Amino acid sequence: MSDRLANSPFAKRFGLTTPIALAPMALASGGELAAACAKAGALGLIGGGYGDPGWTQREYGIAAQALSTQPEAAAQLGCGFITWRMKEDRSALDYVLDRERPPAAIMLSFGDPSELARDIVARGVPLICQIQTMAQLPQAVDAGASVIVGQGVEAGGHGMKSAQGRSTFTFVPEIADWLAAHAPHVDLLAAGGVADGRGLAAAMTLGADGALIGSRLWATQESLAADAAIAEAVQAGGDDTARSGVFDILREKNWPAEYDFRALRNALHRKWENRLDELRADPEAAIADYKAGVAAQDYSRAHVTVGEGTGLISENASATQVIEAITYQAGNFFR
Ligand SMILES: Cc1cc2nc3c(=O)[nH]c(=O)nc-3n(C[C@H](O)[C@H](O)[C@H](O)COP(=O)(O)O)c2cc1C
Repeated sequence: MSDRLANSPFAKRFGLTTPIALAPMALASGGELAAACAKAGALGLIGGGYGDPGWTQREYGIAAQALSTQPEAAAQLGCGFITWRMKEDRSALDYVLDRERPPAAIMLSFGDPSELARDIVARGVPLICQIQTMAQLPQAVDAGASVIVGQGVEAGGHGMKSAQGRSTFTFVPEIADWLAAHAPHVDLLAAGGVADGRGLAAAMTLGADGALIGSRLWATQESLAADAAIAEAVQAGGDDTARSGVFDILREKNWPAEYDFRALRNALHRKWENRLDELRADPEAAIADYKAGVAAQDYSRAHVTVGEGTGLISENASATQVIEAITYQAGNFFR
């Protein structure tokens, strides 16, 4: 283990042995995956996503139970939510905040965190804010974020549309410089395209204190992603993903206009990617087609949510193996 990794301010803040956070991936980062990441020395964030209270209670409970005999790992369990959705119904957030053992952190992404942050920070729970542009940075810091996650457009799942979004490679050092000048007590994680030790070492060389990893940990045995979907991602290369609003329309998700979604660019995506207005105007038949694809696990129609880093995923390993391999490989760059 390299000192540079274990001594990163982010690792020290949460008592981690490696400066990695599991991305709180909606419906994929369940209790088993979050617990496995915490046991492997990373921060395990449950994917509270849209804030389904039943799902969040079940998965958070599974993780807490799995960690019940390991207090140090139990202290590395937290949860993430989609900010704009919490403004409509925050009961899942309240459930996590009201637990006897407070969460290690709450992560908020996609929207102004200020209002929700007040309550989180007042309870002494560290706040992690994922941002996509420099313009969002002062707002997140003013809201009381202890950790900023800079998300590049390479990332899997939701993020800023390509026209406004940033690439991880330039975004991370620009945030690092701003934080050094204005808020040196705030830690920084890179998100988007970190899928192996080279990515973690690169992120830290660019000024991050660690990385938030989604796609690579989505494709693990403990993830709630279907094995058949993971097999698609293992086969795919980084050229095979695209950002668009296609799957949000098909899933009837009411996302704010500035965000879209990266997934494998499958046949159904290709069919609609240049006809979004038409799809929006008359989506019923396409939604039925999509739902039939999901039911049949037919991934030429159902979405497979991974980012460009899918080209670096060659097997469906355990989360422990993935975290150990990333940590080992990154550590070799700092010896
Ligand atoms: C399957 C999947 C689901 C995601 N769901 C969420 C989510 O619910 N909330 C969130 O803040 N970010 C979500 N993200 C984005 C991650 O937080 C993170 O920015 C991204 O995974 C980092 O890029 P990477 O996938 O290349 O590691 C999701 C990502 C993936 C791959």
